[in-house]
Amino acid sequence: MTQQTEEPAGAVVLLGEAIEDWTGDALFYEYSRAADPVGSGAISPVPIHRFPASLHAGGPTRTIHLDLSDRLGVDGPATSPGLLASFVVIRPGERLTTRPDATSELYYCLRGSGHSAFTGPDGDGGGMTGTMPWQAGDFLTLPAGCTTVHQADGTGGADAPGPSDDRSALLYRVTDAPLLRYLGVSPSRPRFRPTRFDGAEARARLAEVEHDPAAADRSRVSILLGNVATPQTLTVTHTLWAMLGILPVGRVQRPHRHQSVALDLVTTCAPGCYSLVGTRLGDDGTIVDPVRVDWEAGGAFVTPPGMWHSHHNESGRPAYLVPIQDAGLHTYLRSLDIRFARPGR
Ligand SMILES: [Fe+2]
Repeated sequence: MTQQTEEPAGAVVLLGEAIEDWTGDALFYEYSRAADPVGSGAISPVPIHRFPASLHAGGPTRTIHLDLSDRLGVDGPATSPGLLASFVVIRPGERLTTRPDATSELYYCLRGSGHSAFTGPDGDGGGMTGTMPWQAGDFLTLPAGCTTVHQADGTGGADAPGPSDDRSALLYRVTDAPLLRYLGVSPSRPRFRPTRFDGAEARARLAEVEHDPAAADRSRVSILLGNVATPQTLTVTHTLWAMLGILPVGRVQRPHRHQSVALDLVTTCAPGCYSLVGTRLGDDGTIVDPVRVDWEAGGAFVTPPGMWHSHHNESGRPAYLVPIQDAGLHTYLRSLDIRFARPGR
């Protein structure tokens, strides 16, 4: 065993065995046995998975992780290899505190109203405190190092989704904590300032896009959230990507695919909305042998990386979707590889 003695600065004396072997953990694989660990089963693929709205119905103030860590084979709660989505239920007048080891936290308020009081480093060696109000439709993002107390207003809210007598505030939360856990790191400084995206403004911007005559020809009718801190990736944080989209009545949004994972939250929909997800496109531009994922208001589902997906609304009512992805990170790595199906190709 190598030992170091305590010496004045600049002098290090090694005692005992100076050179060790260090080869005990080294492995050598024949190329074809290790080139595709997903294909060989060494690592599991990201599953297509639905999380029902019943997960957050009623009950006490709590965090409900959308946890697929068993299927992913990772330690600690995770919805995808790099992201964790959760529902946060806060009873009227009650509080819940968060302090994740994450570079980015994103919240979308599904129901109710309240405020979040945060403290954290400002990135210049100082501290930062503040309070952000929120109500249904608002998005919040918080950077690394924030300890945040989320408090629901006393009146609660019953504006949807969920049981009409559910007065708790309901937040959808996504962090990149699983990515940091995998890397074995804790963040050293914030990369953006706490930011609130007003829900009424987001809906107004989405309505502008929807009423644009070009909307019918677009793959998605949606807005993407950005931040002044991400001028290269154009994403909501440097790792996360967030969208507010509408699936108009009778509409089919053509297939596309990307290497980011999507943790899709359905905010509003009537029965008859669904996504088709699959690995291959046919000559007509539709997905071959797709898996159908039915939408549920207040439910969520995982769209795995690299899979083609299209959205369909046969419900007779407009539907709204909030997908959160790790596309900030993929865009920075130049690995997003987003592709769109051409109709009748
Ligand atoms: Fe997508």
